[in-house]
Amino acid sequence: MDCKNWIKIEFPSESVNVMFARTTIAVFASQLELTLDEIEDIKVAVSEAVSNAVIHGYRNTRGIVVLEAKYSETELEICVEDFGHGIPDIAQAKEASFTTIPEERMGLGLVFIHELMDQVSIISEVDQGTKVIMTKQLNAIAN
Ligand SMILES: Nc1ncnc2c1ncn2[C@@H]1O[C@H](COP(=O)(O)OP(=O)(O)O)[C@@H](O)[C@H]1O
Ligand SMILES: [Mg+2]
Repeated sequence: MDCKNWIKIEFPSESVNVMFARTTIAVFASQLELTLDEIEDIKVAVSEAVSNAVIHGYRNTRGIVVLEAKYSETELEICVEDFGHGIPDIAQAKEASFTTIPEERMGLGLVFIHELMDQVSIISEVDQGTKVIMTKQLNAIAN
């Protein structure tokens, strides 16, 4: 990627920081020619990934979450990483309504992330952590 700008932020896995990440990504993305709807989609995808890091990655113990974002002329790439429990079966985790906490959760976060972003890849290893990389294509600016 021919990167034009980037950020890297790390914070503890406190649930208040889900909102922090959501707001931060919106401010960064506002440098781009995106519609409000597109920015909203990005905010939802980032919130879902960060809340997964907090709830599932660290299971409400304390750990570090890293939020990175960068853009080129053609794409915005966002990465949310934790160093927690990891996902034993990624294909199963992606299934609609699969959740390891059925009493509390709906199991739709990863489904939303895939729907809202153009490309998603999940890298995870048990007891090492999880990295969710998501990309949004940017429309060429007409001029
Ligand atoms: N960062 C993560 N670390 C560990 N497990 C995760 C992570 N993200 C997702 N998972 C696993 O994938 C499942 C599905 O995630 P998701 O679709 O967001 O649904 P929900 O959060 O409602 O359970 C979770 O229940 C969990 O088992
Ligand atoms: Mg979730």
